[in-house]
Amino acid sequence: MENNQTENLTVTETQVSKEKSSLRKRADKIKEFRCKNLIVVLEDPKDPNNVGTVIRNINALGAEKLYLIDSTNSLPNNWDEFKERKSIVASSVSSVKWTFVKKFRSTEDCLAYLEKKNFTSIVTSPHVKGRSNVILHEGDYTQKKLAVWFGKESIGISDLALERSEACINIEMFGIVESLNLATSTGIVLYEITKQRREFEKRRKLKKQLKSINKV
Ligand SMILES: C[S@@+](CC[C@H](N)C(=O)[O-])C[C@H]1O[C@@H](n2cnc3c(N)ncnc32)[C@H](O)[C@@H]1O
Repeated sequence: MENNQTENLTVTETQVSKEKSSLRKRADKIKEFRCKNLIVVLEDPKDPNNVGTVIRNINALGAEKLYLIDSTNSLPNNWDEFKERKSIVASSVSSVKWTFVKKFRSTEDCLAYLEKKNFTSIVTSPHVKGRSNVILHEGDYTQKKLAVWFGKESIGISDLALERSEACINIEMFGIVESLNLATSTGIVLYEITKQRREFEKRRKLKKQLKSINKV
C-alpha cells in the first residue's frame, strides 16, 4: 500500500513537472507575439461569465492586461479570491491564472491612472457617438500605449470615458439587434487591434535590422 502511494506520488510529480515544462516552452514561443502596452478596460461588467470570457480573449489574442472598473465594489478586493471563483475559472478556461488584472473604483480613477502613464484611450460602442467615430477595420491602432474601453452590458460606455478618449470604435451591425454581447465584441475588436500591432512591430524590427546591416 505504502509503495503504491509512493509510486502514485512520483507519477503525479513527473506529470506536473512535464506540464510545467511544456507551459514554459509555450510561453517562450509566444512571447514575441504578445502586444506590449495594450490594455483592455471593462467598465462595471455585471456578468462574471463575460469577465471570464474577456480574460480568455485577452490571453488568446495577446493583449497585455485587463483593468476592471468596479464602482459598486461587487468584486472581491483580494485577487486570489477572485481567481478562484468557479465561474471565472470555467469561462476563462483557467487563463485567469496567466492574466494580469487590476481593479479600479471608478472610471475617473482609471482614466487618471492611464493618462499619468501616457496611454491613449479609445472606447467602443455599437452607436455613433460624438465626432470621433471609426469603423473598426478603418482605424489605426498602433499607438505606443493603447487602452481599449468596453462598456457595461446594459447601458454601454460612459460619457466620461467617451469624452476622454481619442476615438469611438464601431463594429458594423447588420441585424435587427443593435449590439453584440460584451465578451463577443472584445474578441472581434482585439483581433483587429492585435493583428495591426503585431504587423507594426514586425515591420519596426525589420527596419531596425536593415539599419544595423546598412551600418556595417
Ligand atoms: C451589450 S453592449 C452595450 C449595449 C448598450 N445598450 C449600448 O447602448 O451600448 C456592451 C459593450 O460591448 C461593446 N459593443 C457591443 N456591440 C458593439 C459594436 N457593434 N461595436 C463596438 N462595440 C460594441 C461596447 O463596448 C458596449 O459598451
